[in-house]
Amino acid sequence: MSSVTVDEVPAGETYALRGAVLRPNGGEVTWPGDEDPATFHLAARTPDGRVVGVVRFSPTPCPWRPLAKDPWQLRGMATETAVRGSGAGRALLDDGLARVTTRGGDLVWCDARVTAAGFYERAGFTVVTEPYDKPGIGPHVGMLIDLPAAGASRSS
Ligand SMILES: CC(C)(COP(=O)(O)OP(=O)(O)OC[C@H]1O[C@@H](n2cnc3c(N)ncnc32)[C@H](O)[C@@H]1OP(=O)(O)O)[C@@H](O)C(=O)NCCC(=O)NCCS
Repeated sequence: MSSVTVDEVPAGETYALRGAVLRPNGGEVTWPGDEDPATFHLAARTPDGRVVGVVRFSPTPCPWRPLAKDPWQLRGMATETAVRGSGAGRALLDDGLARVTTRGGDLVWCDARVTAAGFYERAGFTVVTEPYDKPGIGPHVGMLIDLPAAGASRSS
């Protein structure tokens, strides 16, 4: 089980890990929308306060579900190599999906690296595209998950 805690943080706190994990050969670590008021960023920290995982969620139309009511994009998911497999990524994902649901979102989508597709599948995402290349980064697939409406009551 993961021993990390997850909190909302300013965009700037995610850039170091974005750079180290997602852009190790260089490239922008700040992206359009990072500072939009609706965008939120999460950091996973070890008990000593070290940031070992980051992710961003922003309200953005879904390329594969143009009629979705309130779609959000997940971007910049990264955990430090040393903590992988210990639940930090899942903690970020679960926390983010819960926060999107609270904000009224009904769907989360992402351009998933093919190498990470299994991680998202374990959390309930589905692959909805053929593989496509992102220049300089590698093969990706489109993935999404439908979220229950916030406050929806269960039928008995
Ligand atoms: C993908 C990534 C965020 C996963 O983070 P993590 O901290 O290792 O994830 P967790 O330990 O919480 O794993 C949750 C579950 O997913 C599984 N999992 C993790 N990475 C996986 C992968 N690449 N493929 C398949 N399953 C994976 C774990 O085994 C675990 O399974 P369990 O539910 O049986 O315990 C991390 O490997 C990473 O930063 N990779 C490099 C950057 C990257 O590819 N980011 C995604 C860009 S789209």
